[in-house]
Amino acid sequence: MMGTDGVRKNLFCILMLLLCGFNGFGHWVKAASSPSDPHYWAGVVEFSSAPTNETAEASTARRLAEYLSIIASSAAIDTDVLVFPEGTLNSHATASFVPNPADKIAPCNNLQYEPVVRDVSCAARNAKKYVLINLTEKARCPEGSDTRPCAPNGLYHFNTNVAFDRNGIVVSRYRKFNLFGEAGTNTTVYPEIVSFETDFGVRFGHFICFDLMFNEPALELVNVGITDFIFPTMWFSELPFLTAAQIQQGWAFSNNVNLLAAGASFPPIGSTGTGIYSGRRGAITTAMHHEAQTKLYVARVPKIQFPDATITKIPQPTGTPSQMAKLFLKRDQIDKYVTKDLPWSSNTQLIDSVCYGSFCCNFTINYTVKQVLANQNYYRYKLAAYDAGRTFDGFANGHITTCAIFACSSANYTDCSQRFGEAAQYEEAVTFNAITIVAKFPDRWDTFVLPNNVDTSIVPLDVSETEYSVVPSTGDSKPHNIITYKLINPRSNLFTFAIWSRVFDPISSDGVSLFGTVSPLVLIGAIWSVVASSWRF
Ligand SMILES: *[C@@H]1O[C@H](CO)[C@@H](O)[C@H](O)[C@H]1NC(C)=O
Ligand SMILES: *[C@@H]1O[C@H](CO)[C@@H](O)[C@H](O)[C@H]1NC(C)=O
Ligand SMILES: *[C@@H]1O[C@H](CO)[C@@H](O)[C@H](O)[C@H]1NC(C)=O
Ligand SMILES: *[C@@H]1O[C@H](CO)[C@@H](O)[C@H](O)[C@H]1NC(C)=O
Ligand SMILES: *[C@@H]1O[C@H](CO)[C@@H](O)[C@H](O)[C@H]1NC(C)=O
Ligand SMILES: *[C@@H]1O[C@H](CO)[C@@H](O)[C@H](O)[C@H]1NC(C)=O
Repeated sequence: MMGTDGVRKNLFCILMLLLCGFNGFGHWVKAASSPSDPHYWAGVVEFSSAPTNETAEASTARRLAEYLSIIASSAAIDTDVLVFPEGTLNSHATASFVPNPADKIAPCNNLQYEPVVRDVSCAARNAKKYVLINLTEKARCPEGSDTRPCAPNGLYHFNTNVAFDRNGIVVSRYRKFNLFGEAGTNTTVYPEIVSFETDFGVRFGHFICFDLMFNEPALELVNVGITDFIFPTMWFSELPFLTAAQIQQGWAFSNNVNLLAAGASFPPIGSTGTGIYSGRRGAITTAMHHEAQTKLYVARVPKIQFPDATITKIPQPTGTPSQMAKLFLKRDQIDKYVTKDLPWSSNTQLIDSVCYGSFCCNFTINYTVKQVLANQNYYRYKLAAYDAGRTFDGFANGHITTCAIFACSSANYTDCSQRFGEAAQYEEAVTFNAITIVAKFPDRWDTFVLPNNVDTSIVPLDVSETEYSVVPSTGDSKPHNIITYKLINPRSNLFTFAIWSRVFDPISSDGVSLFGTVSPLVLIGAIWSVVASSWRF
Protein backbone atom coordinates (compact mmCIF):
# COMPACT_ATOMS: atom_id res chain seq x y z
CA MET A 1 0.00 0.00 0.00
CA MET A 2 2.76 2.42 0.85
CA GLY A 3 4.40 1.69 -2.49
CA THR A 4 1.28 2.40 -4.47
CA ASP A 5 0.83 5.59 -2.51
CA GLY A 6 4.32 6.81 -3.22
CA VAL A 7 3.99 6.21 -6.93
CA ARG A 8 0.65 7.95 -6.97
CA LYS A 9 2.01 10.97 -5.16
CA ASN A 10 4.90 11.33 -7.58
CA LEU A 11 2.55 11.13 -10.52
CA PHE A 12 0.47 13.83 -8.94
CA CYS A 13 3.42 16.10 -8.33
CA ILE A 14 4.17 16.01 -12.04
CA LEU A 15 0.54 16.38 -13.04
CA MET A 16 0.03 19.32 -10.72
CA LEU A 17 3.04 21.15 -12.14
CA LEU A 18 1.46 20.86 -15.56
CA LEU A 19 -2.09 21.74 -14.56
CA CYS A 20 -2.04 24.73 -12.26
CA GLY A 21 -2.15 28.36 -13.12
CA PHE A 22 -5.24 29.74 -14.80
CA ASN A 23 -8.90 29.40 -14.05
CA GLY A 24 -11.62 29.17 -16.70
CA PHE A 25 -11.74 32.94 -17.15
CA GLY A 26 -8.04 33.25 -17.82
CA HIS A 27 -7.39 34.94 -14.47
CA TRP A 28 -4.37 33.96 -12.44
CA VAL A 29 -5.45 32.19 -9.29
CA LYS A 30 -3.55 30.52 -6.51
CA ALA A 31 -2.57 27.13 -7.83
CA ALA A 32 -4.51 24.27 -6.34
CA SER A 33 -2.56 22.68 -3.50
CA SER A 34 -0.41 19.73 -4.46
CA PRO A 35 0.49 16.53 -2.61
CA SER A 36 3.93 17.92 -1.78
CA ASP A 37 2.57 21.18 -0.30
CA PRO A 38 2.66 21.13 3.50
CA HIS A 39 -0.76 22.83 3.50
CA TYR A 40 -4.07 22.86 1.74
CA TRP A 41 -6.81 25.51 1.76
CA ALA A 42 -10.22 24.79 3.21
CA GLY A 43 -13.45 26.73 3.55
CA VAL A 44 -16.20 25.89 6.02
CA VAL A 45 -19.58 27.54 5.75
CA GLU A 46 -21.79 28.47 8.67
CA PHE A 47 -25.23 28.62 7.10
CA SER A 48 -28.36 30.16 8.57
CA SER A 49 -31.03 27.59 9.29
CA ALA A 50 -33.49 30.14 10.70
CA PRO A 51 -37.00 28.94 9.88
CA THR A 52 -38.96 30.78 7.21
CA ASN A 53 -42.48 30.50 5.84
CA GLU A 54 -41.34 29.47 2.38
CA THR A 55 -42.60 26.29 0.79
CA ALA A 56 -40.14 23.38 0.77
CA GLU A 57 -39.51 24.02 -2.93
CA ALA A 58 -38.93 27.77 -2.50
CA SER A 59 -36.67 27.23 0.50
CA THR A 60 -34.59 24.64 -1.32
CA ALA A 61 -34.29 26.87 -4.39
CA ARG A 62 -33.21 29.88 -2.31
CA ARG A 63 -30.71 27.90 -0.29
CA LEU A 64 -29.29 26.28 -3.40
CA ALA A 65 -28.79 29.72 -4.95
CA GLU A 66 -26.91 30.81 -1.80
CA TYR A 67 -24.74 27.68 -1.93
CA LEU A 68 -23.90 28.29 -5.59
CA SER A 69 -22.99 31.91 -4.96
CA ILE A 70 -20.66 30.91 -2.09
CA ILE A 71 -18.96 28.25 -4.24
CA ALA A 72 -18.40 30.81 -7.01
CA SER A 73 -17.47 33.68 -4.67
CA SER A 74 -14.09 35.39 -4.71
CA ALA A 75 -13.81 34.69 -0.96
CA ALA A 76 -13.74 30.98 -1.79
CA ILE A 77 -11.32 31.25 -4.67
CA ASP A 78 -8.25 29.93 -2.83
CA THR A 79 -9.97 26.90 -1.33
CA ASP A 80 -9.27 23.35 -2.42
CA VAL A 81 -12.23 22.04 -0.46
CA LEU A 82 -15.47 23.68 0.64
CA VAL A 83 -17.75 22.24 3.31
CA PHE A 84 -21.41 23.07 3.92
CA PRO A 85 -23.32 22.17 7.09
CA GLU A 86 -25.95 19.60 7.81
CA GLY A 87 -29.59 20.09 7.05
CA THR A 88 -29.42 23.50 5.35
CA LEU A 89 -30.18 22.63 1.74
CA ASN A 90 -33.23 20.50 0.91
CA SER A 91 -35.85 18.40 2.70
CA HIS A 92 -37.82 15.19 2.21
CA ALA A 93 -40.14 16.97 -0.19
CA THR A 94 -37.18 17.91 -2.40
CA ALA A 95 -35.02 14.81 -1.85
CA SER A 96 -32.70 13.77 -4.67
CA PHE A 97 -31.16 10.58 -5.92
CA VAL A 98 -27.37 10.60 -5.47
CA PRO A 99 -24.98 8.72 -7.78
CA ASN A 100 -23.08 5.79 -6.35
CA PRO A 101 -19.45 7.00 -6.10
CA ALA A 102 -18.34 3.73 -7.70
CA ASP A 103 -20.03 4.89 -10.93
CA LYS A 104 -17.89 8.08 -11.06
CA ILE A 105 -20.78 10.16 -12.39
CA ALA A 106 -20.77 13.95 -12.63
CA PRO A 107 -24.51 14.65 -12.24
CA CYS A 108 -24.16 18.20 -13.68
CA ASN A 109 -27.08 18.68 -16.12
CA ASN A 110 -28.20 15.05 -15.64
CA LEU A 111 -31.99 15.21 -15.21
CA GLN A 112 -32.13 11.96 -13.19
CA TYR A 113 -31.01 14.11 -10.29
CA GLU A 114 -32.67 17.09 -8.60
CA PRO A 115 -31.21 20.60 -8.98
CA VAL A 116 -29.47 20.40 -5.57
CA VAL A 117 -27.23 17.63 -6.87
CA ARG A 118 -26.99 18.73 -10.52
CA ASP A 119 -26.18 22.36 -9.84
CA VAL A 120 -23.67 21.76 -7.05
CA SER A 121 -21.89 19.33 -9.38
CA CYS A 122 -21.70 22.02 -12.10
CA ALA A 123 -20.58 24.61 -9.53
CA ALA A 124 -17.81 22.33 -8.18
CA ARG A 125 -16.65 21.75 -11.76
CA ASN A 126 -16.72 25.46 -12.64
CA ALA A 127 -14.90 26.47 -9.47
CA LYS A 128 -12.57 23.44 -9.66
CA LYS A 129 -13.00 22.59 -6.01
CA TYR A 130 -13.92 19.67 -3.87
CA VAL A 131 -17.33 20.47 -2.40
CA LEU A 132 -19.08 18.56 0.34
CA ILE A 133 -22.78 19.04 1.05
CA ASN A 134 -25.34 17.34 3.26
CA LEU A 135 -28.76 16.68 1.84
CA THR A 136 -31.81 14.47 2.02
CA GLU A 137 -31.15 11.61 -0.34
CA LYS A 138 -33.78 9.31 -1.75
CA ALA A 139 -32.75 5.88 -2.95
CA ARG A 140 -34.59 2.85 -4.27
CA CYS A 141 -35.32 0.25 -1.59
CA PRO A 142 -34.07 -2.39 -0.91
CA GLU A 143 -30.36 -2.17 -1.48
CA GLY A 144 -27.88 -4.99 -1.03
CA SER A 145 -28.76 -7.47 1.69
CA ASP A 146 -31.19 -5.21 3.57
CA THR A 147 -34.08 -7.43 4.70
CA ARG A 148 -35.94 -4.71 6.62
CA PRO A 149 -39.31 -3.71 5.16
CA CYS A 150 -39.19 -0.86 2.66
CA ALA A 151 -41.55 2.10 2.93
CA PRO A 152 -44.70 1.75 0.73
CA ASN A 153 -43.29 4.22 -1.83
CA GLY A 154 -40.26 1.94 -2.33
CA LEU A 155 -37.78 4.62 -1.28
CA TYR A 156 -35.26 5.13 1.44
CA HIS A 157 -34.61 8.64 2.73
CA PHE A 158 -31.12 9.09 4.06
CA ASN A 159 -29.36 12.02 5.71
CA THR A 160 -26.42 12.01 3.36
CA ASN A 161 -23.10 13.72 2.81
CA VAL A 162 -22.09 13.99 -0.83
CA ALA A 163 -18.57 14.90 -1.92
CA PHE A 164 -17.90 16.24 -5.41
CA ASP A 165 -14.42 16.48 -6.90
CA ARG A 166 -12.99 19.28 -9.02
CA ASN A 167 -14.76 17.83 -12.06
CA GLY A 168 -18.14 17.70 -10.33
CA ILE A 169 -17.94 13.90 -10.02
CA VAL A 170 -19.53 12.34 -6.95
CA VAL A 171 -16.52 10.73 -5.27
CA SER A 172 -17.98 9.90 -1.89
CA ARG A 173 -21.30 9.46 -0.17
CA TYR A 174 -21.96 8.84 3.49
CA ARG A 175 -25.34 8.08 5.02
CA LYS A 176 -25.68 9.18 8.62
CA PHE A 177 -25.81 6.25 11.02
CA ASN A 178 -26.34 7.80 14.45
CA LEU A 179 -29.58 9.68 13.91
CA PHE A 180 -30.66 12.34 16.42
CA GLY A 181 -34.35 11.49 16.27
CA GLU A 182 -35.00 12.45 12.64
CA ALA A 183 -38.29 10.59 12.18
CA GLY A 184 -38.77 9.23 8.68
CA THR A 185 -35.04 9.02 7.98
CA ASN A 186 -33.49 5.63 7.26
CA THR A 187 -30.11 4.25 8.21
CA THR A 188 -27.87 1.74 6.52
CA VAL A 189 -27.74 -1.76 8.04
CA TYR A 190 -24.10 -1.20 9.11
CA PRO A 191 -22.30 2.09 9.56
CA GLU A 192 -20.51 3.03 6.35
CA ILE A 193 -16.80 3.75 6.79
CA VAL A 194 -16.35 6.26 4.01
CA SER A 195 -13.46 8.35 2.80
CA PHE A 196 -12.17 9.88 -0.43
CA GLU A 197 -8.75 10.73 -1.80
CA THR A 198 -7.98 14.17 -3.23
CA ASP A 199 -5.46 15.44 -5.77
CA PHE A 200 -3.66 17.35 -2.99
CA GLY A 201 -2.56 14.26 -1.14
CA VAL A 202 -5.16 14.25 1.62
CA ARG A 203 -7.75 11.55 2.20
CA PHE A 204 -10.88 12.80 3.95
CA GLY A 205 -13.16 10.78 6.15
CA HIS A 206 -16.57 12.25 6.76
CA PHE A 207 -19.44 11.79 9.15
CA ILE A 208 -22.35 13.86 10.42
CA CYS A 209 -23.25 15.69 13.62
CA PHE A 210 -24.39 13.23 16.32
CA ASP A 211 -21.99 10.61 14.87
CA LEU A 212 -19.34 12.58 16.81
CA MET A 213 -20.63 11.02 20.03
CA PHE A 214 -19.99 7.44 18.84
CA ASN A 215 -17.12 5.19 17.85
CA GLU A 216 -18.65 4.02 14.61
CA PRO A 217 -17.99 5.25 12.05
CA ALA A 218 -16.02 8.27 13.30
CA LEU A 219 -13.35 6.60 15.43
CA GLU A 220 -13.12 3.63 13.04
CA LEU A 221 -11.93 6.10 10.41
CA VAL A 222 -9.28 7.38 12.83
CA ASN A 223 -8.26 3.78 13.51
CA VAL A 224 -7.65 3.07 9.83
CA GLY A 225 -5.29 6.04 9.67
CA ILE A 226 -7.45 8.83 8.26
CA THR A 227 -6.01 12.19 9.39
CA ASP A 228 -8.47 14.70 7.90
CA PHE A 229 -12.19 14.88 8.58
CA ILE A 230 -15.17 16.69 7.18
CA PHE A 231 -18.01 17.27 9.59
CA PRO A 232 -21.26 18.94 8.57
CA THR A 233 -23.40 19.55 11.61
CA MET A 234 -26.56 21.04 13.02
CA TRP A 235 -25.47 20.84 16.64
CA PHE A 236 -27.64 21.62 19.64
CA SER A 237 -25.11 23.00 22.07
CA GLU A 238 -25.24 22.05 25.72
CA LEU A 239 -23.33 23.09 28.84
CA PRO A 240 -21.09 22.28 30.52
CA PHE A 241 -19.35 19.90 28.05
CA LEU A 242 -20.97 19.86 24.65
CA THR A 243 -21.10 23.28 23.08
CA ALA A 244 -20.17 22.96 19.40
CA ALA A 245 -16.70 24.49 19.10
CA GLN A 246 -15.71 23.05 22.50
CA ILE A 247 -16.37 19.45 21.44
CA GLN A 248 -15.03 19.97 17.91
CA GLN A 249 -11.68 21.18 19.27
CA GLY A 250 -11.53 18.40 21.87
CA TRP A 251 -12.32 15.67 19.32
CA ALA A 252 -9.70 16.91 16.84
CA PHE A 253 -7.13 17.33 19.62
CA SER A 254 -7.58 13.91 21.18
CA ASN A 255 -7.35 12.17 17.79
CA ASN A 256 -4.66 14.57 16.52
CA VAL A 257 -6.49 15.02 13.23
CA ASN A 258 -7.63 17.94 11.12
CA LEU A 259 -11.35 18.60 11.42
CA LEU A 260 -13.29 20.83 9.02
CA ALA A 261 -16.57 21.54 10.80
CA ALA A 262 -19.43 23.42 9.14
CA GLY A 263 -22.36 24.33 11.36
CA ALA A 264 -25.96 25.25 10.72
CA SER A 265 -26.75 28.56 12.39
CA PHE A 266 -29.88 29.25 14.41
CA PRO A 267 -28.84 30.37 17.91
CA PRO A 268 -32.35 30.47 19.49
CA ILE A 269 -32.37 26.65 19.37
CA GLY A 270 -28.66 26.24 20.15
CA SER A 271 -27.22 25.83 16.66
CA THR A 272 -23.97 27.56 15.70
CA GLY A 273 -20.37 26.43 15.68
CA THR A 274 -18.02 26.26 12.73
CA GLY A 275 -14.29 25.87 12.66
CA ILE A 276 -11.11 24.40 11.31
CA TYR A 277 -9.05 22.51 13.87
CA SER A 278 -5.60 21.05 13.47
CA GLY A 279 -5.24 18.26 16.02
CA ARG A 280 -2.86 18.97 18.87
CA ARG A 281 -2.17 22.40 17.41
CA GLY A 282 -5.75 23.46 18.14
CA ALA A 283 -8.25 25.69 16.39
CA ILE A 284 -7.00 27.58 13.34
CA THR A 285 -10.29 29.38 13.27
CA THR A 286 -13.47 28.84 15.22
CA ALA A 287 -16.73 30.74 15.45
CA MET A 288 -19.65 30.62 17.83
CA HIS A 289 -22.13 33.31 16.89
CA HIS A 290 -25.15 34.69 18.77
CA GLU A 291 -27.11 35.66 15.66
CA ALA A 292 -28.12 33.51 12.70
CA GLN A 293 -25.56 34.03 9.96
CA THR A 294 -24.37 32.66 6.65
CA LYS A 295 -20.61 33.07 6.43
CA LEU A 296 -17.61 31.40 4.82
CA TYR A 297 -14.49 30.85 6.93
CA VAL A 298 -11.30 30.13 4.99
CA ALA A 299 -8.01 28.89 6.40
CA ARG A 300 -4.75 27.30 5.35
CA VAL A 301 -4.59 23.88 6.96
CA PRO A 302 -1.23 22.27 7.80
CA LYS A 303 -1.20 18.63 6.76
CA ILE A 304 -0.82 16.26 9.70
CA GLN A 305 2.08 14.48 7.98
CA PHE A 306 3.96 17.83 7.96
CA PRO A 307 4.15 18.52 11.71
CA ASP A 308 6.50 21.47 11.17
CA ALA A 309 4.25 23.22 8.66
CA THR A 310 3.48 26.76 9.78
CA ILE A 311 0.09 27.32 11.36
CA THR A 312 -1.52 30.73 11.06
CA LYS A 313 -4.41 31.08 13.46
CA ILE A 314 -7.27 33.39 12.52
CA PRO A 315 -9.02 34.45 15.73
CA GLN A 316 -12.69 35.33 15.26
CA PRO A 317 -14.43 38.05 17.24
CA THR A 318 -16.16 36.53 20.24
CA GLY A 319 -19.50 37.65 21.60
CA THR A 320 -19.69 39.09 25.09
CA PRO A 321 -21.28 36.74 27.64
CA SER A 322 -24.36 38.97 27.52
CA GLN A 323 -24.59 38.75 23.70
CA MET A 324 -23.97 35.01 23.86
CA ALA A 325 -26.95 34.65 26.21
CA LYS A 326 -29.00 34.82 22.97
CA LEU A 327 -27.52 31.44 22.11
CA PHE A 328 -29.84 28.90 23.69
CA LEU A 329 -27.91 26.17 25.50
CA LYS A 330 -29.27 22.94 26.85
CA ARG A 331 -28.19 21.74 30.31
CA ASP A 332 -26.57 18.33 30.71
CA GLN A 333 -28.05 15.89 33.23
CA ILE A 334 -25.51 16.80 35.90
CA ASP A 335 -27.81 16.34 38.87
CA LYS A 336 -26.40 12.92 39.78
CA TYR A 337 -22.78 14.07 39.64
CA VAL A 338 -20.76 13.94 42.84
CA THR A 339 -19.59 17.50 43.50
CA LYS A 340 -17.79 19.69 46.00
CA ASP A 341 -17.83 23.47 46.19
CA LEU A 342 -14.70 25.34 45.25
CA PRO A 343 -13.97 26.85 48.69
CA TRP A 344 -14.53 30.60 48.85
CA SER A 345 -11.10 31.54 50.15
CA SER A 346 -8.51 33.75 48.60
CA ASN A 347 -5.02 33.01 47.28
CA THR A 348 -5.36 29.34 47.91
CA GLN A 349 -3.69 26.29 46.58
CA LEU A 350 -6.44 23.71 46.84
CA ILE A 351 -5.59 20.01 46.69
CA ASP A 352 -8.65 17.81 46.76
CA SER A 353 -10.26 14.84 45.13
CA VAL A 354 -13.82 13.92 44.19
CA CYS A 355 -14.85 10.32 43.58
CA TYR A 356 -17.87 8.83 41.85
CA GLY A 357 -17.82 5.27 43.15
CA SER A 358 -14.33 3.96 42.53
CA PHE A 359 -13.58 6.58 39.86
CA CYS A 360 -11.58 9.43 41.40
CA CYS A 361 -10.52 12.83 40.14
CA ASN A 362 -7.60 14.70 41.70
CA PHE A 363 -7.65 18.48 41.54
CA THR A 364 -4.88 20.94 42.29
CA ILE A 365 -6.16 24.48 41.88
CA ASN A 366 -4.40 27.77 42.47
CA TYR A 367 -7.04 30.49 42.42
CA THR A 368 -7.88 33.92 43.72
CA VAL A 369 -11.29 35.03 44.96
CA LYS A 370 -12.32 38.69 45.07
CA GLN A 371 -13.16 39.34 48.71
CA VAL A 372 -15.27 42.43 48.17
CA LEU A 373 -18.00 42.00 45.62
CA ALA A 374 -20.09 44.94 44.44
CA ASN A 375 -22.57 42.59 42.82
CA GLN A 376 -24.64 39.66 44.08
CA ASN A 377 -24.22 37.93 40.74
CA TYR A 378 -21.04 35.95 40.21
CA TYR A 379 -20.11 32.45 39.15
CA ARG A 380 -19.38 29.90 41.85
CA TYR A 381 -17.65 26.70 40.83
CA LYS A 382 -18.06 23.00 41.54
CA LEU A 383 -15.49 20.22 41.37
CA ALA A 384 -17.25 17.19 39.93
CA ALA A 385 -16.84 13.50 39.12
CA TYR A 386 -19.14 11.23 37.15
CA ASP A 387 -18.94 7.71 35.75
CA ALA A 388 -22.40 6.58 34.62
CA GLY A 389 -25.05 6.91 31.96
CA ARG A 390 -26.97 9.74 30.43
CA THR A 391 -29.52 10.11 27.69
CA PHE A 392 -29.04 12.26 24.62
CA ASP A 393 -32.53 13.78 24.54
CA GLY A 394 -34.02 10.28 24.60
CA PHE A 395 -32.63 9.54 21.11
CA ALA A 396 -29.74 7.46 22.45
CA ASN A 397 -28.13 6.65 25.77
CA GLY A 398 -24.46 6.68 26.53
CA HIS A 399 -21.93 6.32 29.31
CA ILE A 400 -19.90 9.37 30.36
CA THR A 401 -16.83 9.44 32.60
CA THR A 402 -15.63 12.88 33.57
CA CYS A 403 -13.63 15.01 35.99
CA ALA A 404 -14.72 18.60 35.81
CA ILE A 405 -14.75 22.10 37.19
CA PHE A 406 -17.85 23.99 36.08
CA ALA A 407 -19.65 27.22 36.83
CA CYS A 408 -22.93 27.82 38.65
CA SER A 409 -24.82 31.11 38.43
CA SER A 410 -26.14 30.81 42.01
CA ALA A 411 -25.67 28.72 45.12
CA ASN A 412 -28.62 26.55 44.03
CA TYR A 413 -27.40 23.42 42.20
CA THR A 414 -30.12 23.79 39.57
CA ASP A 415 -28.17 26.88 38.46
CA CYS A 416 -24.98 24.88 37.89
CA SER A 417 -24.28 24.77 34.18
CA GLN A 418 -26.57 27.81 33.77
CA ARG A 419 -25.43 31.25 32.64
CA PHE A 420 -26.53 34.74 33.56
CA GLY A 421 -29.17 36.22 31.29
CA GLU A 422 -28.64 38.86 28.65
CA ALA A 423 -29.56 41.76 30.95
CA ALA A 424 -27.83 40.49 34.11
CA GLN A 425 -24.77 42.30 35.43
CA TYR A 426 -22.30 39.98 37.09
CA GLU A 427 -18.80 40.05 38.47
CA GLU A 428 -15.88 37.79 37.64
CA ALA A 429 -15.12 36.81 41.22
CA VAL A 430 -12.75 33.88 40.71
CA THR A 431 -9.46 33.92 38.84
CA PHE A 432 -7.98 30.49 38.19
CA ASN A 433 -4.21 30.93 38.09
CA ALA A 434 -3.52 27.28 37.45
CA ILE A 435 -5.49 24.03 37.41
CA THR A 436 -4.28 20.45 37.31
CA ILE A 437 -6.78 17.60 36.98
CA VAL A 438 -5.44 14.04 37.15
CA ALA A 439 -7.42 10.83 36.75
CA LYS A 440 -6.99 7.26 35.61
CA PHE A 441 -8.97 6.00 32.59
CA PRO A 442 -9.07 2.53 31.03
CA ASP A 443 -6.80 2.21 27.99
CA ARG A 444 -9.40 0.33 25.97
CA TRP A 445 -11.15 0.58 22.61
CA ASP A 446 -14.41 1.57 24.24
CA THR A 447 -13.08 4.60 26.14
CA PHE A 448 -12.55 7.82 24.20
CA VAL A 449 -11.13 10.62 26.34
CA LEU A 450 -10.74 14.26 25.41
CA PRO A 451 -9.70 17.55 26.98
CA ASN A 452 -12.72 19.80 27.35
CA ASN A 453 -13.02 23.48 28.21
CA VAL A 454 -15.06 26.56 27.41
CA ASP A 455 -15.18 30.15 28.64
CA THR A 456 -18.16 32.35 29.44
CA SER A 457 -18.26 33.59 25.82
CA ILE A 458 -18.82 29.90 24.85
CA VAL A 459 -15.48 29.72 23.08
CA PRO A 460 -12.85 27.07 23.85
CA LEU A 461 -9.45 28.20 25.17
CA ASP A 462 -6.53 28.21 22.77
CA VAL A 463 -4.56 24.97 23.22
CA SER A 464 -1.46 27.01 24.17
CA GLU A 465 -3.21 27.87 27.47
CA THR A 466 -3.39 24.21 28.46
CA GLU A 467 -1.31 21.04 28.68
CA TYR A 468 -2.69 17.55 28.20
CA SER A 469 -0.79 14.35 28.76
CA VAL A 470 -1.62 10.66 28.55
CA VAL A 471 0.80 8.31 30.30
CA PRO A 472 0.32 4.55 30.71
CA SER A 473 -0.10 3.67 34.37
CA THR A 474 1.81 0.82 35.93
CA GLY A 475 0.78 -1.92 38.30
CA ASP A 476 -2.83 -2.31 37.14
CA SER A 477 -4.28 -5.68 36.18
CA LYS A 478 -5.80 -4.10 33.05
CA PRO A 479 -4.17 -1.31 31.01
CA HIS A 480 -4.97 2.22 32.15
CA ASN A 481 -3.71 5.70 31.36
CA ILE A 482 -3.02 8.51 33.77
CA ILE A 483 -4.46 11.59 32.13
CA THR A 484 -3.35 15.01 33.29
CA TYR A 485 -4.98 18.21 32.12
CA LYS A 486 -3.58 21.59 33.10
CA LEU A 487 -4.61 25.20 32.75
CA ILE A 488 -1.36 27.14 32.63
CA ASN A 489 -2.62 30.70 31.98
CA PRO A 490 -4.73 32.65 34.47
CA ARG A 491 -8.41 32.90 33.51
CA SER A 492 -11.24 34.70 35.26
CA ASN A 493 -13.94 33.83 32.71
CA LEU A 494 -13.83 30.07 32.85
CA PHE A 495 -17.05 28.13 32.48
CA THR A 496 -15.80 24.55 32.19
CA PHE A 497 -12.44 22.82 32.53
CA ALA A 498 -12.62 19.03 32.31
CA ILE A 499 -11.34 15.68 31.21
CA TRP A 500 -14.38 14.17 29.50
CA SER A 501 -14.90 10.75 28.00
CA ARG A 502 -17.42 8.58 26.26
CA VAL A 503 -17.52 4.89 27.07
CA PHE A 504 -19.11 3.04 24.15
CA ASP A 505 -21.58 0.20 24.49
CA PRO A 506 -20.57 -3.35 23.84
CA ILE A 507 -23.05 -5.07 21.56
CA SER A 508 -23.82 -8.04 23.79
CA SER A 509 -23.58 -8.94 27.43
CA ASP A 510 -21.56 -12.15 26.96
CA GLY A 511 -18.27 -10.29 26.96
CA VAL A 512 -17.98 -10.19 23.17
CA SER A 513 -17.69 -6.53 22.28
CA LEU A 514 -18.87 -4.92 19.10
CA PHE A 515 -15.22 -4.20 18.42
CA GLY A 516 -14.36 -7.86 18.80
CA THR A 517 -16.95 -9.03 16.29
CA VAL A 518 -18.32 -6.57 13.74
CA SER A 519 -15.49 -4.13 13.75
CA PRO A 520 -12.72 -6.19 12.13
CA LEU A 521 -15.09 -6.73 9.21
CA VAL A 522 -15.73 -3.03 8.97
CA LEU A 523 -11.98 -2.49 9.19
CA ILE A 524 -11.33 -4.87 6.32
CA GLY A 525 -13.99 -3.05 4.32
CA ALA A 526 -12.30 0.25 5.01
CA ILE A 527 -8.84 -1.00 4.12
CA TRP A 528 -10.29 -2.52 0.99
CA SER A 529 -11.83 0.81 0.02
CA VAL A 530 -8.44 2.51 0.55
CA VAL A 531 -6.72 -0.10 -1.61
CA ALA A 532 -9.48 -0.08 -4.22
CA SER A 533 -9.36 3.65 -4.66
CA SER A 534 -5.56 3.64 -4.84
CA TRP A 535 -5.96 1.34 -7.81
CA ARG A 536 -8.18 3.80 -9.56
CA PHE A 537 -5.29 6.22 -9.99
C1 LIG B 1 -44.75 32.84 9.47
O1 LIG B 1 -46.15 32.89 9.55
C2 LIG B 1 -46.67 33.03 10.85
C3 LIG B 1 -48.19 32.91 10.81
O2 LIG B 1 -48.71 33.53 9.65
C4 LIG B 1 -46.20 34.38 11.43
O3 LIG B 1 -46.69 34.53 12.74
C5 LIG B 1 -44.68 34.36 11.43
O4 LIG B 1 -44.21 35.63 11.88
C6 LIG B 1 -44.14 34.09 10.05
N1 LIG B 1 -42.70 33.92 10.16
C7 LIG B 1 -41.85 34.45 9.29
C8 LIG B 1 -40.41 34.13 9.53
O5 LIG B 1 -42.19 35.14 8.36
C1 LIG C 1 -29.11 16.63 5.74
O1 LIG C 1 -29.75 17.63 4.93
C2 LIG C 1 -31.14 17.47 4.69
C3 LIG C 1 -31.63 18.60 3.84
O2 LIG C 1 -31.33 19.84 4.34
C4 LIG C 1 -31.95 17.36 5.95
O3 LIG C 1 -33.34 17.19 5.72
C5 LIG C 1 -31.39 16.16 6.62
O4 LIG C 1 -32.19 15.93 7.77
C6 LIG C 1 -29.97 16.57 6.95
N1 LIG C 1 -29.60 15.88 8.10
C7 LIG C 1 -30.10 16.30 9.28
C8 LIG C 1 -29.98 15.37 10.42
O5 LIG C 1 -30.58 17.40 9.44
C1 LIG D 1 -37.31 3.70 6.10
O1 LIG D 1 -38.06 4.59 6.89
C2 LIG D 1 -39.46 4.53 6.67
C3 LIG D 1 -40.12 5.64 7.43
O2 LIG D 1 -39.77 5.58 8.79
C4 LIG D 1 -39.96 3.14 7.10
O3 LIG D 1 -41.35 3.02 6.83
C5 LIG D 1 -39.21 2.08 6.31
O4 LIG D 1 -39.58 0.79 6.79
C6 LIG D 1 -37.70 2.26 6.44
N1 LIG D 1 -37.05 1.35 5.54
C7 LIG D 1 -36.14 0.46 5.94
C8 LIG D 1 -35.60 -0.46 4.90
O5 LIG D 1 -35.77 0.39 7.08
C1 LIG E 1 -0.41 30.56 42.70
O1 LIG E 1 -0.34 31.36 41.53
C2 LIG E 1 0.24 32.62 41.76
C3 LIG E 1 0.07 33.45 40.52
O2 LIG E 1 0.44 32.73 39.39
C4 LIG E 1 1.69 32.42 42.18
O3 LIG E 1 2.29 33.69 42.44
C5 LIG E 1 1.73 31.57 43.44
O4 LIG E 1 3.05 31.26 43.77
C6 LIG E 1 0.95 30.29 43.26
N1 LIG E 1 0.83 29.64 44.54
C7 LIG E 1 1.16 28.37 44.72
C8 LIG E 1 0.98 27.84 46.12
O5 LIG E 1 1.60 27.67 43.82
C1 LIG F 1 -33.44 25.96 43.56
O1 LIG F 1 -34.05 26.21 42.32
C2 LIG F 1 -35.20 25.39 42.08
C3 LIG F 1 -35.63 25.63 40.66
O2 LIG F 1 -35.58 26.98 40.33
C4 LIG F 1 -36.27 25.75 43.09
O3 LIG F 1 -37.39 24.93 42.88
C5 LIG F 1 -35.73 25.52 44.49
O4 LIG F 1 -36.67 25.95 45.45
C6 LIG F 1 -34.42 26.28 44.68
N1 LIG F 1 -33.84 25.89 45.95
C7 LIG F 1 -33.42 26.79 46.84
C8 LIG F 1 -32.81 26.24 48.08
O5 LIG F 1 -33.49 27.99 46.64
C1 LIG G 1 -5.10 10.93 43.47
O1 LIG G 1 -4.68 11.27 44.77
C2 LIG G 1 -4.62 10.15 45.66
C3 LIG G 1 -4.33 10.72 47.04
O2 LIG G 1 -3.19 11.52 46.99
C4 LIG G 1 -3.58 9.19 45.19
O3 LIG G 1 -3.54 8.06 46.04
C5 LIG G 1 -3.95 8.73 43.78
O4 LIG G 1 -2.94 7.90 43.25
C6 LIG G 1 -4.13 9.94 42.87
N1 LIG G 1 -4.65 9.47 41.59
C7 LIG G 1 -4.06 9.72 40.42
C8 LIG G 1 -4.70 9.17 39.20
O5 LIG G 1 -3.04 10.39 40.35
